[in-house]
Amino acid sequence: MKTTVYVLLVLICLTITAFYFLNGTAVITAEPVASLPESPWVLSGVEDTSGAELFASCASCHMADGSGRSDGEVPRLAGQSEKILVHKLQKLRDGSSYLPVMVPFARALTLAGQNQVARYMAGLSNIGLTVEAGLNGHHEVPSAYQEYCAGCHGSVGEGNDALLAPKLCGQHSTYLVRRMTEIKQNIRGDADAAMISVLKTVSQNERQEIAQWLEAFQCTAGQDSSEQLHSGSKS
Ligand code: HEC
Ligand code: HEC
Repeated sequence: MKTTVYVLLVLICLTITAFYFLNGTAVITAEPVASLPESPWVLSGVEDTSGAELFASCASCHMADGSGRSDGEVPRLAGQSEKILVHKLQKLRDGSSYLPVMVPFARALTLAGQNQVARYMAGLSNIGLTVEAGLNGHHEVPSAYQEYCAGCHGSVGEGNDALLAPKLCGQHSTYLVRRMTEIKQNIRGDADAAMISVLKTVSQNERQEIAQWLEAFQCTAGQDSSEQLHSGSKS
């Protein structure tokens, strides 16, 4: 008789524990923005409805077409890789990238909003801005780019998501030159260590030449730009 009572008690305790455990798990999964996941860009199932609406609040500085400013103060984000954009926003949100002007806007976004606006910007065309189309694909790759940069940023600056190396082709040359100087000095505190040491061997003239070539090479969003290179400049 005593044993039956004990067994019953144990069973009741187990049921109660299991109930709270399962309930507790459900609450944790449903928790919103406060805790940041390890891989922020792997947020599947996000309904991409409000990316355009969210971007409206960015357009005053980033321009409605995401083209930025040719003076290099604001980068072209149109056509940048979605994963890179999410990564950049994430670093601004958690403070690991020091860029005070952007922090309030990045922090105003929810995690889902961050993904939506990144997807929207990635989908904007990065074609048709400052440079004559004639250069596209017919411009020789600067040897310094080939030697020092292509390994991480791709043969024509198309970027590499796995290395978190941004797409550079089509970017304003003024911005590229400024960022190279800033990265060399690690001004934002998040610069790639290997890139810093590479920059020490690249002269100011070479950086200028690379930047002008990258700007002129307008790779399209989502297009494999190495194809452009092969069909265009193999002569
Ligand atoms: C008040 C002007 C302003 C607004 C509004 C603004 N930005 Fe920016 N943003 C900037 C400037 C300026 C830079 C570049 C600063 C620099 O390179 O020194 C920048 C840079 C960025 C970058 C690149 C950061 C990096 O690490 O390279 C991203 C991504 C970005 N903004 C996204 C957004 C989004 C998304 C919004 C809207 C939710 C937004 N910005 C609103 C001014 C603004
Ligand atoms: C070892 C890999 C590596 C090499 C080599 C490298 N980079 Fe980078 N680069 C990165 C990574 C990663 C980032 C993003 C983190 C950062 O901003 O430092 C980056 C960022 C940049 C940015 C800022 C772009 C943006 O949108 O924020 C520019 C410009 C750039 N690289 C140009 C170059 C050039 C030009 C070379 C060759 C002289 C070069 N990089 C060599 C990895 C590399």
